[in-house]
Amino acid sequence: MKYSKYNVVIIGSGISGLYLANKLAKSSNFSDGILLITKEELFSGSSALAQGGIVSVIPELNKNDSIQSHIKDTIKAGCGLNKLNAVKFVSENSALVAQELINFGVEFDKNDKNELNFTLEGAHSTPRILHSKGDSTGRIIEETLCNRLRECNNVDIYENTMALELLVDKFNVCKGLVVYNHSRKYFEAIYSANIVIATGGIGQIYKNTTNPEVSTGDGIIMAHNVGAELENLEFVQFHPTALYCKNKKTLPLVSESARGEGAKLTNINGDYFAKNYSTLADLAPRDVVARSIVKELEKNSNNYVNLDISQIGIEKFKRRFPTITSLCLDNDIDLSTGLIPVAPAQHYFMGGIKVDLESRTTIKNLYAIGECASTGLHGANRLASNSLLECSVFALKLSENLIKECACPPKKFDEKIKNVLEKYEKMDNFNSEQDEFIEILFNELKTTMSKNVGIVRNKQSLLSALDIIKNIETRIFSLEFCESRLKFELINALKLSTLIINSALKRENSIGAHYRSDYPLNETTEGQQYDKILA
Ligand code: FAD
Ligand code: SIN
Repeated sequence: MKYSKYNVVIIGSGISGLYLANKLAKSSNFSDGILLITKEELFSGSSALAQGGIVSVIPELNKNDSIQSHIKDTIKAGCGLNKLNAVKFVSENSALVAQELINFGVEFDKNDKNELNFTLEGAHSTPRILHSKGDSTGRIIEETLCNRLRECNNVDIYENTMALELLVDKFNVCKGLVVYNHSRKYFEAIYSANIVIATGGIGQIYKNTTNPEVSTGDGIIMAHNVGAELENLEFVQFHPTALYCKNKKTLPLVSESARGEGAKLTNINGDYFAKNYSTLADLAPRDVVARSIVKELEKNSNNYVNLDISQIGIEKFKRRFPTITSLCLDNDIDLSTGLIPVAPAQHYFMGGIKVDLESRTTIKNLYAIGECASTGLHGANRLASNSLLECSVFALKLSENLIKECACPPKKFDEKIKNVLEKYEKMDNFNSEQDEFIEILFNELKTTMSKNVGIVRNKQSLLSALDIIKNIETRIFSLEFCESRLKFELINALKLSTLIINSALKRENSIGAHYRSDYPLNETTEGQQYDKILA
C-alpha cells in the first residue's frame, strides 16, 4: 500500500471537479498540492456528453431574461420543492460563471451579429442557454478546463484511480480516503483535510440511461457509509428523448434543445401528441413529457415515438446539431426521413449528498459538488441545463472557501481509521476473474430498477424490487475472495438502489419526477400542476 498527502483531494473529473481544480490551482497557498482523481480517463463522466448547454442569466445581453424569471422557472419545474436560497444563489451567480468560462477560453456560439446565441429548452420561459459548437457544449467546456489545468504545476491528476472508502475518525472528521490505482495495481491511502466528492450521477443502476459507465453512484454511497446525510433520493429524472437503440450501456441523447428549436414528438400514427398532455406541449417539463411518451407507448403497444425534425429543416438540423447528427449516423438512422426514433431513459439524479451553500456535507472536512450533491436547487425535477450551471457555481464558491482556509493534511489518526487502513493492507490486488458472474447480477439489478423504480412506480413494484435486490446481495456477498472494480460498483449500486426505493416508498404522493400510480394525479390537471405553483 502506498501513502501520500495533499491539501485538497477532488474525486471526479467532470465539470464540477475540473472547475474547482482550476480555481484552486491559481492559489499559491497549497504547499502540499491538489490531487484530482478519476475512475477512468479524464473525459469519462456525463459532463463531456452534455449537449444542450448551460443556463446563463445575463439580462444585460439578453433583454427578455431576468434572475427573477429564471428563479420562477426553476421552482416551477421543481414543483416548489426547491430550496429558495439555493435557487437564488445559483441564479445570481450565473452571469459570473459564464464570464469565467469565457475567460478560461470557452467559445460559446454566436449569432450573425456576433452576439452570444441563447437557445431554448423545456420549461424555460425565454431562451437563456449558451451552447458551444452547436450541441458539443460539455466536451468543449471540459477540453478547455483540462487544457488550462495542464498549464498548472500544483495539481496532480491520477487517471484510472477509483475512490473506495473515506477515512473518518470517531469525531466524524474526514481525514482522507483509500483509492485503487487500476493501471499500476496498488491501493493508496491519501491523507487530506479537504476531500471533495464530485463523482457525478447514478444512471448505471438503470438499464436504459444516457449516463456513461462510470456513473454508478460511488461517491454518494461512500459518503453514506461514513454517516453523511443523503436526501431527495426518490427524485430520478428521465430524459424524454434518448435515441431508441437496443443493448447499449449508454444511450445517445437527442437534446431537448432540438425541441427548443422546433422539433416535435409524433406517435406511431404520426400525430403530434404532446399538446394533449400540457399547454406547454413539447416544451413542458421533462417529467411531464416523459410520462406522456409512456402513455403513448402503452396506447400503441410500441417501444418508441419519433422526433419530427423536418419542422426545423433537415439541413439546418445537421448544422445546428452536429453531435446528434453523427450519433444518428453511427446508429444507422436515416435523417433524410425527418424522423428520429426516441424513448425516455434515466438521465439525472436530483437527490444525493445533502450539502449547504458552501458545499459542506454533514461530515466535517467532507464536501460534495456537482450531480452527486443535493443542494436543493432542483426540487422534484431539474430544469434543463441547470446542472452545468450548478456544477460551476458551487465549484467556484467552494474554491473561495478552501483557498481562505488552506488547511494542512492531518497528522494524527485514531483506531477507527487505522482499522480501515489495516483492512486494505491485507487485501490482494483487484482481479476480474468473477466479473462475468458479477455482470449478470448487475444486469438483474438494472432491469429491476428500470421496470419497478422507473418513470412510474407503486408500492407493489417497489416492494418487489427490494426482494430482488436482497436476493442479488446474498449472491454477491458469497464471492468472498474476489475484489474487483465491478464488485465494488455493484455493491454501491445495490445499496443506492435500496435507499432510492425506501425513499420512494416513504413519499406517498406523486410530484415532479416521482410518480406513483397508486397515488395518481388527476389526468386533466396533471399538465397544469406547474401553472398553479407560484400562481
Ligand atoms: P461527471 O461529469 O459525471 O463526472 C463524474 C466524475 O467522477 C467522472 O470523472 C468519473 O470518472 C468520476 N468518478 C465516479 N466514481 C468515481 C470513483 N469511485 N473514483 C474516482 N472517480 C470517480 N446538464 C446541463 O446542464 N446541460 C446539458 O446540456 C446537459 N446535457 C447532458 C447530456 C447527457 C448525455 C448527460 C448524461 C447529462 C447531461 N446533463 C446536462 C447533465 C450534466 O451533464 C451532468 O449532471 C454534469 O455534467 C455532472 O457533472 P459532474 O462533474 O457532477 O459529474
Ligand atoms: C439536453 O440537451 O437535452 C440535456 C440538457 C440537460 O440535461 O440539462
